[in-house]
Amino acid sequence: MNLFSSPQHFLTWRRSLSNKKSVGFVPTMGALHEGHLSLVRQSIQENDVTIVSIFVNPIQFGPKEDLKRYPRPLQKDRRLLAGLKVDGLFAPSVKSMIGQEILTKVSVHPLNEFLCGAPQFRGHSHFDGVATIVAKLFNIVSPQRAYFGLKDFQQVRVIEQMVKDLNIPVEIVRCPIVRERDGLAMSSRNQYLSPRERTLAPYIYRSLQSGRKLLRSHPNMSLKAISSQIKNQLKKIPEFKIEYIEFVDPQSLEGLRQKKGAVLLAAAVRLGTTRLIDNLLIK
Ligand code: PAF
Repeated sequence: MNLFSSPQHFLTWRRSLSNKKSVGFVPTMGALHEGHLSLVRQSIQENDVTIVSIFVNPIQFGPKEDLKRYPRPLQKDRRLLAGLKVDGLFAPSVKSMIGQEILTKVSVHPLNEFLCGAPQFRGHSHFDGVATIVAKLFNIVSPQRAYFGLKDFQQVRVIEQMVKDLNIPVEIVRCPIVRERDGLAMSSRNQYLSPRERTLAPYIYRSLQSGRKLLRSHPNMSLKAISSQIKNQLKKIPEFKIEYIEFVDPQSLEGLRQKKGAVLLAAAVRLGTTRLIDNLLIK
């Protein structure tokens, strides 16, 4: 597997690849788990060449967030990717990607301000940081397809919209959430959980499942009443600090009062110092 630590270095190799080869791309922040590896396997199946990036993107972290403590096990990640026979690993330094400062920002409004993007949670600057870095990565990597996990549903919508609005010639491939056996959605942040928090964390997914069950069994119940019930269930466990549990339109991400076609039930919950998100797309 080829390893590149700057855009310049990477581009020399990228330009040497034949235009006839399809390139699949999996952008990540490293600390790879089975969720990431499933994206990589899908890319390998569907493309001639697969490129993975590992970049803990400082411009998507707020000043009070976990940028410093975010796990960076690069050697382990390299071994995992080499084992899958990834062709290229692009792991640029912060200096080579950001330099002093980026003056251009990509802001996908208003998708960036719902759910996690609300000012009291991560704020729109989180998604602006994601969109900006992903636009840069797409320009450097020039993939035909890019693979994203649906745990970060809002991120996927932001990127889909950016690609459409800016005519970026990349097909965004949505990939299913990969879960632990007990239902907890895989995330690099799960490793922050204490053993007790780890036993509680699967209740988030269970509460979403019970919301889906209520929605199906009580078609006349309002979405607000269902989300209140889910919140009340979770509040029984004092360690959970709920940020939001909301039914939204899966396209616009706007909050829904009435059921109409598919709905996304999305949750963000703090458990100790760890912020976990999950969602269920209900058709
Ligand atoms: O989902 C992630 O790991 C990141 O937000 C991404 C897409 C790699 C951009 O930094």
